[in-house]
Amino acid sequence: MSETLVTVQVDDDGVAEVTMNRAEALNALSPALIDALSDAFRALDRTDGARVILLSGAGRHFCAGADIGAMSALPVAELVRTAFTGCCHALAAVGKPVVAAVQGYALGGGCELVEMCDIVVAARDAVFGHPEVTVGTMPGAGGSQRLPRVLGKHKAMDLLLTGRRMDAVEAERLGLVSRVVEPDRLMPEARAVAGTVAAHPPAVLRMIKESVAAAFETNLRDGLVLERGLFHRSLTLEDAREGMMAFREKRKPVFAGR
Ligand code: CAA
Repeated sequence: MSETLVTVQVDDDGVAEVTMNRAEALNALSPALIDALSDAFRALDRTDGARVILLSGAGRHFCAGADIGAMSALPVAELVRTAFTGCCHALAAVGKPVVAAVQGYALGGGCELVEMCDIVVAARDAVFGHPEVTVGTMPGAGGSQRLPRVLGKHKAMDLLLTGRRMDAVEAERLGLVSRVVEPDRLMPEARAVAGTVAAHPPAVLRMIKESVAAAFETNLRDGLVLERGLFHRSLTLEDAREGMMAFREKRKPVFAGR
């Protein structure tokens, strides 16, 4: 089941393409899809050959959120007991950079997946939103925490309280999206971005990700201390020596991943 619900392909350049494969339900996050995604993210985080994850959805839409059918069929006690959130927490725990390629709907838990990613490339037809309130619930996987940190309180509240959708252009203007491209350019552009990132030293990518997370998750003072420590650690890497040496010797660096 997990193999068909999520496809994973690790390319030679270190880009691991993870595709949600439930197009008939707009990639709605059923418990089985959440499990398959979680397995894939945990495995790729430990796979040396995978330096960057590229997350996309099969079909015309990225992800329409928690599977409402599955969610409403389970007794509340069961949802609480299993800590069900209708999304995939494992993504937030990935230490490697994650690039999202978003087309069509990214709603509810689908928007939360986007918020957990690091670089977001969106097709011009992409639509973002948190309609949970319209189905009587609220974000359960970070939407009310990560969205205000990206958009600011009043924009986030506009989306969370009204359940309205926003298009890719507005999402880019507000900072949820990194780049907007024409739909036929989505995968080539997202793949190219992932490839560019994958060429950089993997340990430093992890450090940058950890440091940027600290900007959101700790106060500035603690974040600056943490950043300085990670920066100094990066200087002890062979890849840092190589990168600086290559710059001075005016040649392309060759990063060994150490
Ligand atoms: N859960 C389960 N099935 C879903 C789904 C969802 N979130 N979204 C779409 N589908 C299914 C539809 O039921 C339909 O299946 P059938 O063909 O078997 O009827 C199929 O996908 C196609 O969907 P539509 O026919 O509805 O397509 P549309 O183009 O007319 O509308 C849509 C698309 C606006 C996204 C609409 O499907 C919709 O509003 N979906 C629900 C979006 C939503 O509310 N998401 C938030 C869920 S709660 C959540 O995510 C909690 C959390 O924070 C983790």
